[in-house]
Amino acid sequence: MQETRSRLRIEDLTTSNRDMARCLQLAALAAKSNVPVVLLGETGTGKTLLAHAIHNSSARAGQPFIAFNASAISDTLLESQLFGHERGAFTGAQQSVKGKFELADDGTLFLDEISEMSPLAQVKILRVLEYGEFERLGSERMLTSSARIICASNCSLRERVRQGKFREDLYQRLNGLTLLIPPLRERFEELPALIAAELKMAGLKEGKDITAIHPQAMEKLLYHKWPGNLRELSHTVRTMTLFCDGSVIMPEHVVFPPDLEPSRANTPGSKSASTFGDNDKKHEPGIDLSLDSAIKRHARLVYDQANQNQRQAAKLLGISRSTLARYLQSVVKK
Ligand SMILES: Nc1ncnc2c1ncn2[C@@H]1O[C@H](COP(=O)(O)OP(=O)(O)OP(=O)(O)O)[C@@H](O)[C@H]1O
Ligand SMILES: [Mg+2]
Repeated sequence: MQETRSRLRIEDLTTSNRDMARCLQLAALAAKSNVPVVLLGETGTGKTLLAHAIHNSSARAGQPFIAFNASAISDTLLESQLFGHERGAFTGAQQSVKGKFELADDGTLFLDEISEMSPLAQVKILRVLEYGEFERLGSERMLTSSARIICASNCSLRERVRQGKFREDLYQRLNGLTLLIPPLRERFEELPALIAAELKMAGLKEGKDITAIHPQAMEKLLYHKWPGNLRELSHTVRTMTLFCDGSVIMPEHVVFPPDLEPSRANTPGSKSASTFGDNDKKHEPGIDLSLDSAIKRHARLVYDQANQNQRQAAKLLGISRSTLARYLQSVVKK
């Protein structure tokens, strides 16, 4: 699945959230140019996936996509990783090896977790970006790289510059186009479609024919704050698929990682995991599992999340106020 996702193009990504739509528009623009891109977003929001998508939608698609996490490499290994080395350049260098810049030539170099790079890594990378040239360790031959640079960070780079932890000159070099990927908790209207897509994939993978989500299970999913964003969503849906032994996802199948529990401050009035009693364990035939009912319930949830502001809720849902009012009337609040 991950492999397939790394082959996605920007056109394959859809969203009903306005900020995410803006982000995808910018990503499409980025794909048409060679401008350096900075992807900002919390962990699990899809920075790596979007970096791949930009590459796959660009003219460089047939060339390599090389990822490099500079924060995970010690300064001793850094230069040989970035620039490569010749045989005998240092003890243990038994053969010549290309570095990331050389490997990514004509393709894309994805610099992950850039805010955590050491000062040395920052200097070395800046030098290549400024002069377009580098040498392998143990060689005097100048090499060039026309790799397009995409960086990712889960904290504000500008803030890191202010704190003196990130070089201003490097920041300026990298910051051609900045894309801010909103956290999943701010993409509330997108959740039902994302859950449905993940469920379909997980069902196929586990060989299960799951046809519906119990309304209370859906409520648990919709009210969750998703601190781990799409990665957490993926895992949660996979787990609930494993737990599900019938064709309907029940509330007790929805289990969130316990260590993330404290950050899950649900909206007042919503049910917490422990309040789902034993009565919910079997799918009761009386419960309405129709899509129509799910849509109306969803409208109610969004309305509650928007502090019962009809205008805002209608906007989030992408429907008119009168339609929302009609939905709300037909849902008996539980
Ligand atoms: N739009 C999306 N639709 C479905 N799944 C997504 C989407 N974006 C990301 N994912 C999935 O969510 C998970 C996390 O995505 P990704 O690794 O790109 O996040 P990240 O922001 O790079 O995280 P980190 O900061 O930890 O590196 C992956 O399994 C990815 O396939
Ligand atoms: Mg990543």
